[in-house]
Amino acid sequence: MEPTIHRGLAGVYFDTSHICHIDGERGELIYRGYDISELTDASYEEVVHLLWRGELPTRDELSAFRQELAPLFALPDGVIEALRNLPKDTDPMHALRSAVSLLAAYDEDPDGVDDTNVRRIGASLLVRFPALVATFERLRRDLPPVTPDPELTIAGNFLYMLSGEAPSEAATRVMDVALVLHAEHGSNASTFVARSTASSLTDTYSAITAAVGSLKGPLHGGANAAVMKALEAIGSVEAVEQYVLDTLADPKGRVMGFGHRVYRVLDPRAAILRGVSERLAEESGDSTWFEMSLEMERVMDREMEKKGRQIKANVDFFSASVYRMLGFPSDQYTPIFAVARISGWMAHLYEQYADNSLTRPRIHYLGETGKRFVPIDERG
Ligand code: CMC
Repeated sequence: MEPTIHRGLAGVYFDTSHICHIDGERGELIYRGYDISELTDASYEEVVHLLWRGELPTRDELSAFRQELAPLFALPDGVIEALRNLPKDTDPMHALRSAVSLLAAYDEDPDGVDDTNVRRIGASLLVRFPALVATFERLRRDLPPVTPDPELTIAGNFLYMLSGEAPSEAATRVMDVALVLHAEHGSNASTFVARSTASSLTDTYSAITAAVGSLKGPLHGGANAAVMKALEAIGSVEAVEQYVLDTLADPKGRVMGFGHRVYRVLDPRAAILRGVSERLAEESGDSTWFEMSLEMERVMDREMEKKGRQIKANVDFFSASVYRMLGFPSDQYTPIFAVARISGWMAHLYEQYADNSLTRPRIHYLGETGKRFVPIDERG
């Protein structure tokens, strides 16, 4: 009997989870019971506490969590040296993926997959991700790495380690919102890769290295950088419409930042980021990127409605203009996504290691059978 093929595992449930729920028809995203719109005033650390421990922290719990994290930001010297030795034009996602893998060599127990050890590694990766991204950014600009400030939050420290200057409260708040919105999203490609890799009971670093590699792709986290590349190439609000029409006229054309495997309506994260982008545009007095994004969304919505298709803006669409207005270079957009998603990946690894089942689906063979071996000299 022919098996049923679920290409891309679309619609397949491979396990159960208590972390996150997505209702693609209603456009709902829920972290452990809380609709995402409830969490936009929370700090990233509060949301990580929620994802990892199941509850929002009390003030004392939050301060204990921050104290636990503060000493973990510092990177091993060997990893900083490795980043320093990379060619300056290395894509920051290649740098991040390589550095995460290398961290295992400096860990006293990289391989233990008991809950205590995995959570110890998770806490260090949570704060080392921003440190790695910021350190490589400084090194490639021939600037010395900045020692993290134990008094700052993850969002604040990330901005501080990038610029070397005390971050403004407003920029830290925007970064917190971006980190919260990108923290977790169920069984997306990179999280599935993390869980699947861990399911052989290999180590946390291997699972997270694989996840970073998956996130990098333009159909996943790489889309935010692709959105900005498109906006830069388009250059003006007036030129947006023709760009969208030309892209859609190509049967393989994709307007980046639109479409989703699960959402059939607007991604709720895109709606929140649209508001952030609008506010930043007003505050900065430069609304170019926001206006272009708005026009692209208008034309896409109109064209998709004509075709009767449910392809709406996703999280990567408005994050591009937000990061641009915060001053990030476009090849840092996907690393910022990784700085947020490490929390979701780790939440899933805690579940996976706690109750593991090896991921081992089947693939339907369509090749030949029954061929006989012919020695090489007789093959002609
Ligand atoms: N622009 C134009 N057409 C699109 C788009 C788009 N952005 N997205 C989907 N389609 C069309 C696609 O061409 C196909 O058409 P047809 O049926 O005529 O061949 C149809 O919609 C279904 O597309 P699919 O790729 O088979 O569907 P999927 O569920 O695998 O798509 C997706 C999900 C995210 C890969 C896709 O929408 C896409 O490529 N979007 C652009 C990249 C992007 O923004 N990725 C970020 C995803 S959300 C957050 C994250 O993971 O980082």
